[in-house]
Amino acid sequence: MRRPLSKLAVLKHSLTLILVLILGMSSVYAFDEHAINVPAPKGEECVEDPEWMRVNHFKTVLNHRDDTVIRGIRTEKHSLKNCIDCHITANESGDYARYSNSEEHFCASCHTTAAVTIDCFSCHADRPEHVIRAARQQSQLDALKANSVHVSATELILNTPQP
Ligand code: HEC
Ligand code: HEC
Ligand code: HEC
Repeated sequence: MRRPLSKLAVLKHSLTLILVLILGMSSVYAFDEHAINVPAPKGEECVEDPEWMRVNHFKTVLNHRDDTVIRGIRTEKHSLKNCIDCHITANESGDYARYSNSEEHFCASCHTTAAVTIDCFSCHADRPEHVIRAARQQSQLDALKANSVHVSATELILNTPQP
């Protein structure tokens, strides 16, 4: 037989419920904070349920790494490149954030708040491949231009009539 709850027990239960609700809400807000400056992903859907991903994404990438690097299973769906291609998009001025920019880089946005450190982007690209390729071409062009200044300076010296 169940005893009816005493007034005190009811009060305790409601307090616990309120506390759980407040804590739950604050953690949701904490996770939403990162979205303020992060440009939206370009795709419609994540490769897994976003709610699940929010908590478990590191299992997805780490498992996929082990599948690829240790077990030799190569698939696209969970590749880190895929995450970056979709999640790292241009901001309003057309710039792509680096991982070091925790305000705008999707992956860094929460890690900074949550004090998570990862070394993944010391080897892996933190921006989509086409962006890196474009940046590299630009720096080669800049280097060429810098050289051409030297070329014309040399020409200037060579073509200056000697006294
Ligand atoms: C084709 C595009 C696409 C790909 C690929 C993709 N995602 Fe997502 N992801 C999304 C979208 C869309 C959402 C939902 C975003 C929202 O609700 O603001 C999302 C949500 C998330 C979230 C939750 C974000 C939040 O604000 O709570 C995480 C974490 C995440 N993705 C990680 C990953 C990881 C890790 C990978 C690679 C294994 C990946 N995603 C691949 C599109 C993608
Ligand atoms: C010292 C360099 C280095 C670091 C640091 C590193 N990786 Fe990798 N990673 C590699 C190399 C090399 C491969 C193999 C690439 C291949 O065979 O395509 C790889 C493959 C992967 C793959 C499978 C291929 C793909 O594109 O999905 C994933 C996933 C991955 N790494 C995730 C991570 C994550 C997550 C971290 C951080 C926790 C990390 N890696 C840190 C070098 C590194
Ligand atoms: C919604 C916030 C959020 C986003 C967005 C996010 N992370 Fe995380 N990440 C976390 C939190 C919180 C942890 C710590 C998880 C834990 O230990 O339970 C974590 C942990 C990780 C870890 C494991 C670190 C370790 O201790 O070994 C990896 C790897 C990782 N994230 C990669 C990524 C990558 C790659 C992206 C972008 C594609 C990303 N994360 C985006 C919040 C986020």
